[in-house]
Amino acid sequence: MSKLFSSLQINNSIQLQNRIVVAPMCQYSADNGYANNWHLMHLGQFAAGKAGAIIQEATAVAPEGRISYKDLGLWEDGQITKLAEINAFIKAQGSVPGIQLAHAGRKASTNLPWLGREQFAPEHENGWQTVAPSALAFHPSDYTPKAVTESEITTLVDQFKQAAVRAVKAGFEIIEIHGAHGYLIHQFLSPLSNQRTDKYGGSFENRIRFTLEVVSAIKSVLTTQSLWIRLSATDWVDGGWNLEETIALCKILKQQGVEVFDISTGGLDRNQKIEVHPNYQVPFAEAVKNQAQVITGAVGLITKGKQAETILENQQADFILIGREFLRNPHFVYHCATELRVNLPWANQYERGK
Ligand code: FNR
Repeated sequence: MSKLFSSLQINNSIQLQNRIVVAPMCQYSADNGYANNWHLMHLGQFAAGKAGAIIQEATAVAPEGRISYKDLGLWEDGQITKLAEINAFIKAQGSVPGIQLAHAGRKASTNLPWLGREQFAPEHENGWQTVAPSALAFHPSDYTPKAVTESEITTLVDQFKQAAVRAVKAGFEIIEIHGAHGYLIHQFLSPLSNQRTDKYGGSFENRIRFTLEVVSAIKSVLTTQSLWIRLSATDWVDGGWNLEETIALCKILKQQGVEVFDISTGGLDRNQKIEVHPNYQVPFAEAVKNQAQVITGAVGLITKGKQAETILENQQADFILIGREFLRNPHFVYHCATELRVNLPWANQYERGK
């Protein structure tokens, strides 16, 4: 009996048909934050391929929260329509649509990855003034972000809330908060990027305050939807955000109603030292799962069915998120089933390819 192909009950309303989830992956293909047929094709193919859930890419809660000018957004109502169409398709295939709500903070205003990813000056036509907890740039060649005031923090929390309202209207069943990879929420969590002296900086309690406010604002507008968070469990830098703090935060967020923890690492500090190898982030998911006693997803260089199955068998995670392998192989789930000798019914239209 395969664990990977067993269902996962998230809450009273949401069940995943298997434990393979598409990790959020920016496509840099939106215009003014609006989704189009690229997103329908990109996300839709994974639904036809029987993914348990599909987490849509980092979707900005405000225009200046986009990593690049081509990111998806959910800061205005017009952006709901196309996402609702995509979600209807995903649900019709038996998968669960999720969205990652994000604000890039000091890592915003960049060029597209395939055009060099450099940060644009605030006055550039595709750039803008970035914001952050403190006026500290990510990279020496970046422009200095503006440190947000307390009233601007209140606005940011509200932007997350309003985007969540729109996400619910668009039919998303999973709302994942992007608290990882050095973006705005992570910038507040880490003492390396947060050097504030007010109630949002300094102690652990102060650095997690913004995250707690965002979680509580979003939670207040959800009904049956499940609230997830992606966290970087370590900055991979001495003196940075670490696993111990991550576990302490997860315990608090569990009490606040976050149901699932998607555990990644890094992205906050350019001096990070990471030895990347298959399963390299799994020990962090395992520590969160066992010490915070929460539903946990593992991600990072997991590319094979047996590899994923073993992680679940060893109780290191409850489900697996797959990124790049899904880009190489949108029918990764079918291939895992073959590898694990699981009799998975394929989509009717594809049955003759089995
Ligand atoms: C990513 N990743 C990512 N992570 C995230 O939290 N939000 C995002 O929008 C993106 N965007 C993104 C785009 C692309 C093209 C890639 C390849 C990756 C990271 C991704 O979700 C995942 O954590 C990593 O890729 C590691 O998993 P894999 O690819 O080794 O399975």
